[in-house]
Amino acid sequence: MRLTMVGTGYVGLVTGVCFANTGNDVTCLDVDARKIEKLRANQCPIYEPGLEELMERNARAGRLTYTLDKQAAYRDAEMIFICVGTPSDERGHTDLRYVHQAADDIADVLKALGPSQPRKVIVMKSTVPVGTTFEVRDRIRARVGPEIPFAVADNPEFLKEGDAVSDFNRPDRVVVGVEDEATGDAFRALYDPFVRNGHPIYVMDVLSAEMVKYASNNFLATKISFINEMANLCEAYGADIGRVREGMCSDKRIGNQFLYPGLGYGGSCFPKDTLACIMMGDKAGIEATLSKAVHAVNQRQRERFFDKVVGHFGGKTGIGGGPAGLQGKRLAFWGIAFKPRTDDIREAPALTLIRKAAGYGAVCVAFDPVANANARAELGPAAEIVEDMYEATRGADALIVSTDWDEFKSPDFARVKGLMRTPVVFDGRNLYRPSAMRTLGFTHYSVGRKPVR
Ligand SMILES: NC(=O)c1ccc[n+]([C@@H]2O[C@H](COP(=O)([O-])OP(=O)(O)OC[C@H]3O[C@@H](n4cnc5c(N)ncnc54)[C@H](O)[C@@H]3O)[C@@H](O)[C@H]2O)c1
Repeated sequence: MRLTMVGTGYVGLVTGVCFANTGNDVTCLDVDARKIEKLRANQCPIYEPGLEELMERNARAGRLTYTLDKQAAYRDAEMIFICVGTPSDERGHTDLRYVHQAADDIADVLKALGPSQPRKVIVMKSTVPVGTTFEVRDRIRARVGPEIPFAVADNPEFLKEGDAVSDFNRPDRVVVGVEDEATGDAFRALYDPFVRNGHPIYVMDVLSAEMVKYASNNFLATKISFINEMANLCEAYGADIGRVREGMCSDKRIGNQFLYPGLGYGGSCFPKDTLACIMMGDKAGIEATLSKAVHAVNQRQRERFFDKVVGHFGGKTGIGGGPAGLQGKRLAFWGIAFKPRTDDIREAPALTLIRKAAGYGAVCVAFDPVANANARAELGPAAEIVEDMYEATRGADALIVSTDWDEFKSPDFARVKGLMRTPVVFDGRNLYRPSAMRTLGFTHYSVGRKPVR
């Protein structure tokens, strides 16, 4: 099939590469000239395990091309996948300007091709508020007139950054929202190579497909906020969330996935998709009480953790009302990405912690295995970004573990202790056992467990 991906970000690029890998002829379009230049040189603009190798192979086979030329990208495509960003403001209003721009560009090409062209399917892969795919359909129809053949569909994406290639190649399920059977059949054919393991393709109506994405992300976010709330209660009453997790998660109805206490969720999806549910509720006159609480618990979790850091260094109020104890303290941060195996730092808890600490006069030194370049661009002078995890701890008054990268799980603690000014670890991901940290001579704070000194 001839396919076009609109947007070569985490979703568009992975989708395009994986569809090319099953034999489709894929064009990836972007408006970012630097990205396209990199892609044409087979350099992956994002960190995503396994992606660059597949890019290279499929580009060499002639099945995968990159372009800035909208006309060329849309003209021959049978299916056009809109994979542009859909960010939201802090109240949850989704910014649809990139989606609208893509829709208008597509409409202009459709109109120029005239009514005798074969019908194209315009697919919404971006996460959009329920009803947006139809709004886009109507917007395009208004621009092209009644004669031009096209269909719309919604095909939400469930890949996880860091595992995006394997998630896309072996999805738990594929969800497609369509308006007619022929479009459903086109998707069944397209996704057939990805579900040979017997996993289902659910073909449903467009509005339900759009809602599946929000329901899924909101549920996962709920699990994270739930376990964090339990962790906070554990701290208040002296229980250990690790033991509580064991006892609770052995119940098959509960399971142990996505129930890890920590700094709360970040990234470009859970925060905005939870807020979008709140906003969709507001618009419909339905208070999304649970989504509001999930969001509030999540935001508070970072604050609570920061309060532990402040509390350790004493002083609750300083000049200007800030925690005076942090002034001049050197804080090392391990991990800036919002989760391991990605360079994505959007809404990452580490950013909040670093900015707050720097705002109170701390000297922040941070290391991330792959997100350093993004962090430098985002944080500017708020943090010194270094290229070695141990170097970050040199002379530090405390180490803050903010992302659970594998390389942080079993570090050379003797070396860390030797480098630090004072051996204090704030373990935001519960990577280390408190008893072991005590034996090693560290003061150790974690989430939902008693600190050890
Ligand atoms: N990142 C994820 O893990 C993930 C997972 C599932 C769903 N989603 C959803 O997928 C969508 C895309 O997310 P992302 O993380 O890939 O975004 P991204 O910001 O990484 O990439 C978006 C790309 O679209 C390009 N673009 C913008 N306007 C364009 C236009 N008119 N024509 C062509 N290209 C254009 C941008 O230059 C950018 O390269 C969002 O709606 C997101 O919620 C993301």
